[in-house]
Amino acid sequence: MRIGVLTSGGDAPGMNAIIRAVVRAALANNDHVFGIYDGYRGLVEGKLVEFTRKDVSEILNKGGTILGTARLPEFKFEQVRQLAVNQLKRYDIEALICIGGDGTYMGALKLHEMGIKTIGIPGTIDNDIASTDFTVGFSTALSTACEAIDKLRDTSSSHQRCSIIEVMGRHCGDLALYSGLCCGAEYIFTNETGLDKDKLLKDLKENRLAGRRHAIVVISENMTDVYQLAKEVEDYSGYECRATILGYIQRGGAPTPEDRLLAARLGNYAVDLLHEGITGCCVGVSQNSLIYTPIDEALKMVNEPNVELNNLVQKIS
Ligand code: ADP
Ligand code: F6P
Repeated sequence: MRIGVLTSGGDAPGMNAIIRAVVRAALANNDHVFGIYDGYRGLVEGKLVEFTRKDVSEILNKGGTILGTARLPEFKFEQVRQLAVNQLKRYDIEALICIGGDGTYMGALKLHEMGIKTIGIPGTIDNDIASTDFTVGFSTALSTACEAIDKLRDTSSSHQRCSIIEVMGRHCGDLALYSGLCCGAEYIFTNETGLDKDKLLKDLKENRLAGRRHAIVVISENMTDVYQLAKEVEDYSGYECRATILGYIQRGGAPTPEDRLLAARLGNYAVDLLHEGITGCCVGVSQNSLIYTPIDEALKMVNEPNVELNNLVQKIS
């Protein structure tokens, strides 16, 4: 087969490990594999190169994506996608592996409807793809967030402060829920839990009066202005309060072993599926087994709240 591979949307640690797995698995099958630079934008512009084994050496432990990534909103227009299809035809590429989040999956689905054999691989720190238990990049971002929150705890407890820490996740609360739980945060707020500001202020005031030295609050992005919230906490509760937005640091760094393993399994599986003639789908893991789901179904699936972990937070935070 002649297979293209691209990364698209927000980068995530472990994308390189997926690219490596795809390229090496394809070459092991005597396929030709083409690295496409800068996502769908690069595809439209014809920025692609045939890859050898050596082209993916020394990248397994590197963050970011050697292929580069981009956002091309115009890809929703059929005329723009036709340019991409034309490029693939020019190089006689019949199949495309698209690594990214749900926007990337949407692009892959549309290309599939135009006759290209596509497979999506979940590469995003947000863990917001309902058709897989975990996305590549989540484990590393979680580890980065935990390291940062542990450090913030040190200074927060020394100064008897309240620390509000905003983590990424777009509209998915997993990074906040998992990092908050792993770091023993007193409060975790996500889209699923909502934010009851009045209750938080009252609780903090009571805790302060009861002599609790400090408090850690972990909150998902896009919920509130955390700097303003810190001011309100300081005005009302008696705690000095500081807000920290962890930001893009969560997107970088060497992938964890969990992300590398997931990347290797999913990259190889995507190539296997193409050889079995299964396309228009995305790969993932469920209860640690490899699965695939038609992309149109995957895009309709909703992330269910994690009842077990949310209950656990209520009990032990
Ligand atoms: P992610 O893949 O991380 O969710 P984005 O939502 O930014 O990131 O999507 C990545 C890219 O996928 C977009 O820049 C665009 O090129 C493509 N894409 C997103 N939505 C669509 C759509 N409805 N139709 C075609 N392509 C899309
Ligand atoms: O999807 C990954 C992510 O980092 C989200 O967590 C965040 O909301 C978004 O991308 C930020 O996107 P940008 O790179 O366009 O600022």
